[in-house]
Amino acid sequence: MKHKRKKISVIGAGFVGSTCAHWAAAKELGDVVLLDVNEGAAKGKALDLFEASPVENFDSRIIGTSDYKDTAGSDIVIITAGIPRKPGMSRDDLLATNAKIMKAVCLGIKENAPNSIVIVVSNPLDAMAFVAKQVLGFPRERVIGMAGVLDTARFSSFIAEACDVSVRDVSAFVLGGHGDTMVPMPRHCSVGGVPLTELLDSATIDKIVDRARTGGAEIVGLLKTGSAYYAPAASAVQMAEAILRDQKRILPCAAFLQGEYGVKDLFVGVLCKLGGNGMEKVIEVKLNETEKAGLDNSIKAVQELVAAMEKLEF
Ligand code: NAI
Ligand code: 2OP
Repeated sequence: MKHKRKKISVIGAGFVGSTCAHWAAAKELGDVVLLDVNEGAAKGKALDLFEASPVENFDSRIIGTSDYKDTAGSDIVIITAGIPRKPGMSRDDLLATNAKIMKAVCLGIKENAPNSIVIVVSNPLDAMAFVAKQVLGFPRERVIGMAGVLDTARFSSFIAEACDVSVRDVSAFVLGGHGDTMVPMPRHCSVGGVPLTELLDSATIDKIVDRARTGGAEIVGLLKTGSAYYAPAASAVQMAEAILRDQKRILPCAAFLQGEYGVKDLFVGVLCKLGGNGMEKVIEVKLNETEKAGLDNSIKAVQELVAAMEKLEF
């Protein structure tokens, strides 16, 4: 590709990856490379999406490939390669298989797109981001995990539904790992500037918190053959957009902590500033005792996951 547009490589052309390509192209974020070990699927989906461009009026070239050389010069790489959950499986069941896949993918990226900013999506998210950081050796600004934007999107949609208001007027965030221990933060949530706690009773808020926490499993239970992809892909692309357009957005992302919240060398979901340099800043939020206990519990779960992974050979 000879264009001067930004370049986004999406690794894994499955449900999440191809939907990321779709949102990225529709938003004209740049040219898109869709890479998969299944070359036919990557090429077929890329061509099909490119052929939609005259209808939807977007100027993005989209190519499919299984060759990492095509990712050279990428500004952003979104990694979605890996197996998804089936009913009854936890995200952690994916650990061994996806760690191997993540290592192979990151070796390809490191060699061919060494200056890219990498957004990890594959599960179990906090552990896969850890593998990516280790294999890539990039600074923490350039390896970021996507989970908090999705978990927050679920939390916010349920809040908008319960309050019968526009989703645009809900401001919320979820902290912690991408698992059952994640910590939605109702005390920090507002609707049109009004604290959520003044608008909904605590029983309703508790139900919404629980539904957000189990939002991934709810979709797996319905789909039966895989996991969610529209909201996950939209979330990864929102992070890519914040970086490519240097928006300085404050979004919850899995960041490699260096002392924040008393944690070192671990990916945990925290509020971050995303801009042209990637994860530009971790924003530490003042937590009350209950919130702190929830976050500590979630951090412990991520620590155990990473410890389990370090015992595996991949
Ligand atoms: P999928 O099965 O539809 O797609 C995965 C793709 O990865 C397949 O096309 C497969 O051929 C490809 N792949 C496998 N090994 C590869 C390799 N070595 N190199 C390149 N491509 C390879 O799965 P789906 O639904 O797209 O999910 C992808 C991953 O994203 C899963 O691990 C899933 O759990 C995770 N996920 C994470 C979310 C989050 O919030 N962080 C949300 C939704 C999904
Ligand atoms: C989700 O939360 C499976 O992690 C994925 O939908």
